[in-house]
Amino acid sequence: MPLTGRQTLTQYLIEQRRRYPAASGNFNALILDVAMACKAIARAVGQGALAGVHGAQTGELGGNSINVQGETQQKLDVLANDYFLRINEWGGHLAGMASEELEAPYPIPAAYPRGSYLLVFDPLDGSSNIDVNLTVGSIFSILRAPSGDEELSEADFLQAGREQVAAGYALYGPSTMLVLSVGDGVDGFTLDKDLGEFMLTHPRMQVPPSTQEFAINASNSRFWEAPVKRFVDECLAGKSGPREKDFNMRWIASMVAEAHRILTRGGVFLYPRDSKDASKPGRLRLLYEANPIGFLIEQAGGRASTGYGPVLQEQPTQLHQRIGLVFGSRHEVERIERYHAEPQ
Ligand code: AHG
Ligand code: MN
Ligand code: MN
Ligand code: MN
Repeated sequence: MPLTGRQTLTQYLIEQRRRYPAASGNFNALILDVAMACKAIARAVGQGALAGVHGAQTGELGGNSINVQGETQQKLDVLANDYFLRINEWGGHLAGMASEELEAPYPIPAAYPRGSYLLVFDPLDGSSNIDVNLTVGSIFSILRAPSGDEELSEADFLQAGREQVAAGYALYGPSTMLVLSVGDGVDGFTLDKDLGEFMLTHPRMQVPPSTQEFAINASNSRFWEAPVKRFVDECLAGKSGPREKDFNMRWIASMVAEAHRILTRGGVFLYPRDSKDASKPGRLRLLYEANPIGFLIEQAGGRASTGYGPVLQEQPTQLHQRIGLVFGSRHEVERIERYHAEPQ
């Protein structure tokens, strides 16, 4: 046992590499850079109004700044995006990055060496919760970059979730956490602010297969498809309904915080495909929300689905593509998939 009483993220990564000697040290350094970006964001989130980081970002023409999704950007969306870019671009581990807040992929500047990975991220998830001082987070996905030195294109990022080398998130809540999978289970670390280190506190996280808790934004119910309506109605019917048990409901509006709750005590989360806006088949983005969370949930023994099949099998067609997403305790997700498969 290390002197600090717990393993640090650095020690954990070194040990992982010893178990897979073919892996390069570059990958460890990349994860540590991502962790550094998350620590910088945690500091800004923690200082809140004192640091003047609350509120909407002002755009170049004076009004609110709007991102490629058509959302009003918060100051912290922009700051967190900048931290991710600045802290990860110089290390030589990446060929490029893509972000919720950037319309096009970000190539590594010529001043820095080009590496063999791609980093895709949602710098600040749950940004409607910033100003009310509730939990937000960052989500990231690591993919392999194409070899060779041709200019990077959007197509290089359009890889199915199964191709992810690693995925994780940071949670800026009462404590700051980093939850990570390098394809060998899921481990959770808590930031020791005095040491400035993420310490392994939640080894081998597992999603319990059964649950009596679900999470969905019920204000969208009139737009849901029939299988989702059926599932929620049956949960609401409780003990006297077909499920013969009572369900509890939660909605934080930070998917990353919902994922953390589900990784800790189980549950099922739905932001399904709906008919609210014909141009958006779902709310969440495939590459930097659904895929990394799906990877973590599957690595922890849960299931992540579009409702129609595993989300990690989806072949992306666009960088900012949206998708219906259902994830969490295996038995509930399988039930939801069964309802989708039955003739309506
Ligand atoms: P982001 O803040 O990165 O744009 O993502 C917000 C997402 C997700 O975190 C959350 O589950 C969902 O939006 C909340 O949507 P509603 O406002 O419809 O509840
Ligand atoms: Mn957003
Ligand atoms: Mn998000
Ligand atoms: Mn975001």
